[in-house]
Order: sequence, then C-alpha cells, then structure tokens
Amino acid sequence: MQTLLQNIHPDKVPKHVAIIMDGNGRWAQKKGLIRTFGHRNSMNSIKSTLEACQELNIPYITLYAFSSENWKRPEQEISFLMDLLHKSLKQNLDKIHENGIRLMAIGKTHNLPEKLSSQLEYSIEKTKKNQAATLILALNYSARHEIIRATRSIAQKVTEGSINLNDINTKVFKDHLYTAEIPDVDLIIRTSGEQRISNFLLWQAAYAELYFTEVLWPDFRKKDFFEAIYNYQKRERRFGKIEEQIQDQYSNLS
Ligand code: IPE
Ligand code: IPE
Ligand code: MG
Repeated sequence: MQTLLQNIHPDKVPKHVAIIMDGNGRWAQKKGLIRTFGHRNSMNSIKSTLEACQELNIPYITLYAFSSENWKRPEQEISFLMDLLHKSLKQNLDKIHENGIRLMAIGKTHNLPEKLSSQLEYSIEKTKKNQAATLILALNYSARHEIIRATRSIAQKVTEGSINLNDINTKVFKDHLYTAEIPDVDLIIRTSGEQRISNFLLWQAAYAELYFTEVLWPDFRKKDFFEAIYNYQKRERRFGKIEEQIQDQYSNLS
C-alpha cells in the first residue's frame, strides 16, 4: 500500500470525489447472512475512505447513502438503514468534528425520519465552521428531483422578475442546486461491479471520470481508494479540447 501511496501525485488529487457505495446486500448474502449485516459492515469502509481522503488532502467527498428510489425496498431494510444512519452519525460526530470536517447533506432530508433529520441538522450546524474538508451525505437524494427543484426555483424568480429569462445560464443553474457552493465532481467511484449512475449527481458529474471496481462496499478499504485515485491520475481529462491544448488536465470546467 505504501508504494501505491508513493505513486500518487499529491498536487493532482481530485478536488471532489463522489462514491456510490454499492454491494452491501450481496456482501452479506455471499456469507449466508441477511442483507442488513452488509449495511452494518459498511461503516468501516466509510471510516477508511475518510481517512484516505484526509491523507491525500481531498477537500470534498460525497457519499451516496440513500437514494429516493431506495424507499421501494422492504420496510424492514429501510428502517434498519435509517436507524443505522442515525446511530452512526451520533456516534461519530465528535470524531468528525475533531478532524475539522464540515458535514453537509443533499437530498430531501426533511422527509427522512424525524430522529435522523434532527441529528443531521444538529451535526451540520455543529460542524459548519470546519475547514479541513467537506463531507456531503446524499440522503433521500435523486438527481432528477434536484434538477426539477432548481428549475422550479429559477422559474419562480423569472415570474417575480428577479431573474431575466435570457440570463439563465450554467452558472445560474448551478447556483440553484443543492451543491451550489461545491465544485463539480472530478471522480465517481462505484463499487460492486455495477456500471451505472443510478440517478446520482447528473449535473455535477457532467465531466467526471468514472471508476468501477468489483470490490463490494463493505470490503472497500484505503488501498482500494488509493487505487482509484492512482487510476484517475493516469487519465487524460480533455474537457472537449485536443491533447496538445491541455495545459492543466486536472483543472475543473470553467
Ligand atoms: C448499497 O448496497 C447500500 C444502499 C443502496 C443503501 P445495496 O443494499 O444496494 O447492496 P446490493 O447492491 O443489493 O448488493
Ligand atoms: C445506488 O445503489 C444508491 C446508493 C448507493 C445509496 P442501488 O443499489 O440502489 O442502485 P441500483 O438500484 O442497483 O441502480
Ligand atoms: Mg445496490
């Protein structure tokens, strides 16, 4: 692992990494256990990932924890997940705070169970001045809902006359997303071998690099994260240009 870390260029790490943490159910089922064991074991993977981000000085990390489509799952699994999210947040808040991490959430968080949404609100408030890194939890999140929400709010402003129809551009649109103040996603990692986006950050990931690994989320550790970053750094990001024009291939879209 040390050599893997040595091969990572510290000046070329992504600013914003987003992870689709997938494969918890299959991890448990492979061991002959019920799906919820997989969810429980996913917490160690989150800890390892956050440590790895801190070692590499990655300023923004988004974790897809619960999609709006996940409400379609069996009721028992949903309540287990909500309870686990609430407990984990409560147990780890001091550590998150001590590490200087600012917590944020994206998604319809007010529709989560009251215990979880108030713990979330409290944690966001407590950590809001932290500056070492930002951890964004996608909870009850749907990228399509987010885009519709932004559209509605812009349309409202056009109706009221505070925005001109002709002034709507990518910057204005971005400013109405949950992630208004967050840089675009540079790298999306999805575990468990599935190769799809599943309604995650559709706007923000327009030019993200995609990295898929067969590792199931509960098995994901620092070395797997470092491998993803190493792989990312070997890619050429062109943003529509040709090779010769690229001066700083790791810079964001402007
Ligand atoms: C990801 O693992 C966790 C959530 C979506 C909440 P899954 O629960 O989707 O696990 P698989 O994909 O069924 O194995
Ligand atoms: C995506 O995983 C959502 C999260 C990781 C929270 P899913 O397991 O719900 O995605 P699909 O249904 O396989 O696309
Ligand atoms: Mg899944």
